[in-house]
Amino acid sequence: MKLGKLQLNTPVMLAPMAGCADRAFREICIDMGADICVGELCSAKGVYFGDKKSEQLLFTDKNERPKGVQLFGSDIEAMVYAAKTALKYSPDFIDINMGCPAPKVIASGGGSALLATPQTAQKIVSEIKKVINVPLTCKMRIGVMPGDNIAVEFAKGLQNAGADLITVHGRYAKQMYSGTADRQTIKEVKAAVSIPVIANGDIADGASAKEMLDITGADGIMIGRAALGNPFIFGQIKQYLKNGEIPPAPTFSQKLEVLQKQFELSIKYKPEKVAMLEIRKHCAWYLKGVFGAAALKTECFGINTKKDFADFITKLKKLEHNI
Ligand SMILES: Cc1cc2nc3c(=O)[nH]c(=O)nc-3n(C[C@H](O)[C@H](O)[C@H](O)COP(=O)(O)O)c2cc1C
Repeated sequence: MKLGKLQLNTPVMLAPMAGCADRAFREICIDMGADICVGELCSAKGVYFGDKKSEQLLFTDKNERPKGVQLFGSDIEAMVYAAKTALKYSPDFIDINMGCPAPKVIASGGGSALLATPQTAQKIVSEIKKVINVPLTCKMRIGVMPGDNIAVEFAKGLQNAGADLITVHGRYAKQMYSGTADRQTIKEVKAAVSIPVIANGDIADGASAKEMLDITGADGIMIGRAALGNPFIFGQIKQYLKNGEIPPAPTFSQKLEVLQKQFELSIKYKPEKVAMLEIRKHCAWYLKGVFGAAALKTECFGINTKKDFADFITKLKKLEHNI
């Protein structure tokens, strides 16, 4: 598939995940085989009103490319302004969030609220397209409520407005994360548009990745939650898609090595206090499935300093033989 200057064969993408897939994690995932990543959602209004924290979310480093930045909102003027601002950071593409069900995002008329206002969604696309020189992509859910049969028409509208690619998370906004992703509707969207379609939702390993691609006929896939604490998933899925082989699971010491690297990047990029708070949940994800994880997870929520983190890793290394 082609997206601007990018030419990729069935890309395996890292999903945007606010508060989780930050610069450190994105860099790790790209290093470990993710073909593309997308930044955390950024409020267009925040950028428009000069909020520095919002604009920081648009920053794109060379080590996390190819990367798209994601905007949310519904105010055309603010969306266009934010898209132009994003260009300062030379993203590989700009993505518009049309799926987030969070109340704060819907309150802006953006995210999944756009699924109910297709004309606004299309206007956002057509107006932003006029001012940017990189591809414009959209990430949508399949409707607001189960039974809303809108996905195909909505996607066609985006394509007509000028979208260069659409990612479809196969859930309704009201479902949040319950139920299972509806691959049939993703297939219908793929069949109805000529731009590339990326399939998203519940991909957890090589087999579910292949199933998603086989059922939907999508041009690529996007992985969210299953990558947390497991950036190895990108290499594993790619190997499986290439030759049907299931590579050996990473050893505990390999996991610790990656966790340590992520921590080092995190404290390089964020104020130390923030990095400390955030690494706790990542530690817990890396420990998923490990023997005795429940007690260890409780312990990682007591990490307050670099030394606490180093001590915790030392302890885990000693435990390694019993795990
Ligand atoms: C913690 C978290 C944060 C998320 N933040 C965003 C976001 O900023 N933008 C977005 O488009 N989707 C966001 N999502 C949705 C994911 O990108 C993805 O569509 C969803 O998790 C389904 O994929 P999965 O089953 O592979 O996790 C988020 C999901 C999670 C779990």
